[in-house]
Amino acid sequence: MNQRTLSILRLLKDGQFQSGEYLAGKLHCKRATISRALKNIDSYGVEIVKIRGRGYRWINPILYLNRDLILNCSSIDPRKFNITLFDTIDSTNTFLLNNLENGMIDNNCVPVVATEYQTNGRGRAGRLWHSGFGDSLTFSFGWRFDQGVSALSGLSLIIGIAVIRVLRSFSISCVNLKWPNDILYDNKKLAGILIELRGEIFGPSYAIIGIGINFKLSDITNSFINQEITDLSSISDAYLDRNQILSALLTEFLNILPVFVDYGFAYFQKEWISYHAFERQAVSLILPNGSVIVGTFDGVMEDGSICLMTSSGRKSYHVGDISIRLNSL
Ligand code: BTN
Repeated sequence: MNQRTLSILRLLKDGQFQSGEYLAGKLHCKRATISRALKNIDSYGVEIVKIRGRGYRWINPILYLNRDLILNCSSIDPRKFNITLFDTIDSTNTFLLNNLENGMIDNNCVPVVATEYQTNGRGRAGRLWHSGFGDSLTFSFGWRFDQGVSALSGLSLIIGIAVIRVLRSFSISCVNLKWPNDILYDNKKLAGILIELRGEIFGPSYAIIGIGINFKLSDITNSFINQEITDLSSISDAYLDRNQILSALLTEFLNILPVFVDYGFAYFQKEWISYHAFERQAVSLILPNGSVIVGTFDGVMEDGSICLMTSSGRKSYHVGDISIRLNSL
């Protein structure tokens, strides 16, 4: 999406009709340029109607991410965050990875990047993360650890806990975790977490923590995704504002990360299991080498690895993709 299209969207964000002449005047271009700039807008999940004599109207306008709205929520301490917002960017994780050196991450003023749209959103295991313009909450933040990367096992699980806590605080109950940190509702994916670690084995190290929460996915975004998914608008009747949720999440990260540093994942083990979607259920674990382990889920260990009861006893694993074995339900 180019800069002109982004500027037009900003002018249409109140959901009112604006004439082509008005838009062209505001953006110092010809009316034909406006029409061209909006030509493929529906491929971003943005619905704009054009009616002769009235102009253009954005049918499903978003409430934009806004620094003041994020920082003015009562729960947040604004001095603790350095927030950068984009209309479009390749990936908020990539941006932070490319722009932050370890020494630049200061937990007293946490760098946060959020965007309305990612051109190359990244998921775990090299997958893509799809979202449309403003139809998800997509953001990343950086956190510095004195410890080395090897001491951070369980980090991805506690970030999942933080997301669950916040969603539940917005009365979005019945959200669960799929190991290591997918957020599910009714076994459908609602949110995902991508953590990228950098730094020294014995420290210091830093994590770029990226989160995508499906908010109100357009049909076009849905059509790109080949797994069972859901979004907040489908599961909650409440009016939800991404700014408020982001604000609450940032506050929760500030709360949970120091506890994790002091006590490790062991402190959160029981809580994680209480949110676990597949506890005591028959699952398959696909290991990176392609082999499949079948067993019954039996909690997580103090380091965040999973436990499966298998035909050869209770085993723990650090990596792999879990799927539920429907035929054994
Ligand atoms: C997954 O479940 O596979 C993880 C998805 C993580 C997506 C988020 S969206 C914000 C941040 N930027 C990215 O490119 N990815 C993460």
